Amino acid sequence: MPDLDLDQLLAVARATAVAAGDLIREKLDQPRQTSSKGFRDLVTDADLATQRLITRRIREAFPSHGFLPEEENADLPTEGEVIWVIDPVDGTTNYSRQLPIFCVSMAAVIPVRGPVVGVIYDPLRQECFYSVQGEGAWLNGRSLQVSPITELSQAIIGLDWSHHKQMRQSVLDSLSRFAHQVQTVRAFGSAALALAWVAAGRLDAYLNYSLQPWDTAAAGLLIAEAGGQISHLDTTPLYWAEATQSVLGSNGRIHQRLLERVAGGE
Ligand code: IPD
Ligand code: CA
Ligand code: CA
Repeated sequence: MPDLDLDQLLAVARATAVAAGDLIREKLDQPRQTSSKGFRDLVTDADLATQRLITRRIREAFPSHGFLPEEENADLPTEGEVIWVIDPVDGTTNYSRQLPIFCVSMAAVIPVRGPVVGVIYDPLRQECFYSVQGEGAWLNGRSLQVSPITELSQAIIGLDWSHHKQMRQSVLDSLSRFAHQVQTVRAFGSAALALAWVAAGRLDAYLNYSLQPWDTAAAGLLIAEAGGQISHLDTTPLYWAEATQSVLGSNGRIHQRLLERVAGGE
């Protein structure tokens, strides 16, 4: 297999994510069709149209690549030397109510190496977060670093609630164990964007009990390349294709202490 050109993967991913974001933004004010695909789990016509745009553009550029997209599409190949892990709209519940926090998330994964390129695009702020394995992480051309915060008492922690009843209870239980120790807590409703904000040093950590590969593939690479840490809540590393992941992404400096709190330590 010839060496893959990561710069080419990145260029296509960035251009595609921006085009996808433009489409989402255009559709934000238009009448919307929203349906339920599971318990507390929505999909809109914009999610489906955006995923179609993304997969069409990737297939034009890389006909032999495979896909792991959020929205079902039996016509897409699932295997290839590169797998594109795609969340066309991360933050669909926000989007469906015109709450202005959502993004496009795309990662190019080499199955034995994990994510090698990740792009998260916030179309309302026109912020493109991107990273390349071993080379760094950037926001609109500026290099990214996680925050320098070392004390939990100064940390701003993001989290989201989970759809499922039991996991939502776990979030509440763990929140009750650390909320008093930190500066404050935010729930934004877009896991990929909140994790990108950890990479950018805006948040010090982000916690979720039930994420999917398309929520974490690009964001995990961004955090690692910005000098942070991402793991399951039991400290084991993430695997890019794993369904339903518990995740803590952080600046690394507060990772262990926050995990101990989340797990019930003093
Ligand atoms: C959801 C968001 C949310 C997280 C959920 C995800 P979606 O993704 O990332 O923040 O808490 O677990 O499913 O459905 O909007 O793509
Ligand atoms: Ca998502
Ligand atoms: Ca989605």
